[in-house]
Amino acid sequence: MRSSVSLFRTLGKGLGLCADASSSRVAQQAVPALSAAMSSTASEAESSKGAHYAAALGGIVAGIFGASCVASANEVGDGLHAPHYHWSHDGVLDSYDHASIRRGHKVYQQVCAACHSMQYLHWRQLVGVCYTEEEAKELAAETEVEDGPNDEGEMFTREGRLFDAFPSPYANEASARFANGGAYPPDLTLISGGRHDGPNYIFSLLTGYRDPPAGISVREGLYYNPYFPGGAIAMPKMLVDGGVEYDDGTPANASQQAKDVTTFLAWSSYPYQDEMRVMGIKACLMISILIAFASYSKRLRWAPIKSQRLVMDVVN
Ligand code: HEC
Repeated sequence: MRSSVSLFRTLGKGLGLCADASSSRVAQQAVPALSAAMSSTASEAESSKGAHYAAALGGIVAGIFGASCVASANEVGDGLHAPHYHWSHDGVLDSYDHASIRRGHKVYQQVCAACHSMQYLHWRQLVGVCYTEEEAKELAAETEVEDGPNDEGEMFTREGRLFDAFPSPYANEASARFANGGAYPPDLTLISGGRHDGPNYIFSLLTGYRDPPAGISVREGLYYNPYFPGGAIAMPKMLVDGGVEYDDGTPANASQQAKDVTTFLAWSSYPYQDEMRVMGIKACLMISILIAFASYSKRLRWAPIKSQRLVMDVVN
């Protein structure tokens, strides 16, 4: 009996019911039928056997109950699990939606690039993916790159060229943290592949800002977002309806921008996915043709052997 009560107490503590004495009471109230059954068994039998069974039963129930509490506690710690959205590049035979990559790059450039670098992406990688060579050159030329040293040993700045990487908004991590209240806006080049369930998580994160529920207060400089582990993120809600204007006339509401920038980030994590899928299809085709030839030739060569009959004529 005592052991089951202490189990309830532990369970009560796990639930966050702080006071020791009240915790077992509340937990017993939560399972009234069980505690009634336990006390009657214990008093009737007088022997400890019944109490042991009851304790074991209590332990099992508390274990199951406790496990579910742990699971929900993790949900808060790890963030709300993102729902599954149907991305245009989900299926093995699907390619990226390249119009969406183009719109997504615009969102990144006009909104996210103020805080996030994408230092592993180069302008030339956009050519043939979402821009023509001329367009990519123009975009690169709008940026300034430090180069050098020149013949006099001086560093100088020049226009960006196709072979340059995307410019970073901050000189280093310290200045990025200083500008963002101590939080570091991570580089976004590989973020989609680097987070569990990347595209669904990023879309949910960008569209998941809301008022904190009653009883939860968020420290100043942080914003409530249930999809972020811990629930409070240092990045403010960045996407608002009409925040950017698309070249192709797509209405730029917040969720459309989130979808486009997520597609762009999915592409930047796996830029060669389209080519790899085409290669995969070609490889499967080639292998099936080779298997067809191989099985035909095997049958051809084995036919005389398989249709032979060996007769052993034993003399004496
Ligand atoms: C005002 C600056 C700012 C802008 C603009 C901004 N972010 Fe952030 N972002 C941050 C900061 C700061 C963090 C780190 C948050 C933290 O650690 O609490 C962050 C974190 C993130 C994360 C990582 C979350 C994680 O799981 O670690 C993603 C993804 C992200 N931002 C995407 C975007 C996208 C996409 C945009 C453009 C639509 C954008 N951000 C615009 C400041 C910004």
